[in-house]
Amino acid sequence: MDSLKGRNLLSMADLTSTELHGLLALAAQLKDGTKRPKCLNKVLGLVFSKASTRTRVSFSVAMYQLGGQVLDLNAGVTQIGRGEPTADTARVLDRYLDIVAIRTFAQSEIEEFAEYASIPVINALTDLEHPCQILADLLTLKEAFGTLENLTMSYLGDGNNVAHSLMLGCALAGVHIRVATPDGYAPNPTVVKQAIELSQGRSEVIITTDPKAAVEASHALYTDVWASMGEEAEAESRIPKFQPYQINQAMLDLANEQAIVLHCLPAHRGEEITHDVMESSQSRIWDQAENRLHAQKALLAAILSAA
Ligand code: CP
Ligand code: NVA
Repeated sequence: MDSLKGRNLLSMADLTSTELHGLLALAAQLKDGTKRPKCLNKVLGLVFSKASTRTRVSFSVAMYQLGGQVLDLNAGVTQIGRGEPTADTARVLDRYLDIVAIRTFAQSEIEEFAEYASIPVINALTDLEHPCQILADLLTLKEAFGTLENLTMSYLGDGNNVAHSLMLGCALAGVHIRVATPDGYAPNPTVVKQAIELSQGRSEVIITTDPKAAVEASHALYTDVWASMGEEAEAESRIPKFQPYQINQAMLDLANEQAIVLHCLPAHRGEEITHDVMESSQSRIWDQAENRLHAQKALLAAILSAA
């Protein structure tokens, strides 16, 4: 995994197909204990301007298990919350930290940070992408089927950050991806084009407004909240538009009989997914959450050149 040493992960598209498969293999070895890399005394900064449970805790535990340390630098406890410019913050944190994971709104903010800092910058969620989530999702899919070949992933819901990185990640991994959204909530066309390019004809990238067509015979059904962080004011008005995209038992019955159900969490039961499907034997949601730890540990070890 030498090629990832010192690199940023701002977008899923920053990885090659080979690097993505390599990270998933390393994550599996970290999970089963066959590899135990160390990043002794390295310090990870978490610069988060949005709430987080999984990303914050999984990054922190991953870094501690690698022998490194973590500083939680959310906007409220730093001068970032009082408006210190990103370029200034980046040049200062660059002098203290070994690596930084940033959760914010605009993708341009993490790009600016990366431009002004020489340390590796990881996207821990922006309005455009959530690449770390997709590392865990693909690891979970691979565990469920023993391979990533000849599989179809179907995403129902809002065509934003998680859907974008999922499209790019599936394209790189050679997994067919179908994204079904209501009218007006389709993925960013630039990201769709990028995903088609990255797939290199290995796998399909299908964007539709028809949820049933999207899930037919699929191996994994995936959803996310209908109103993301920062869009809370639209939550009520979106419900009727998104209702046909709910993952429920009737939707699951249209998929492959071995299909797994994924959700990045946090979930709104009764909206994008029903309680019974979340708790069903086909749900891999809790394994998926666990895999955030293993996947990000692999990412940290590869970037910090410990594996
Ligand atoms: N899935 C995810 O990123 O969860 P958090 O918002 O809790 O980090
Ligand atoms: N789309 C969601 C993902 C949360 C992990 C959001 O941006 O709030």
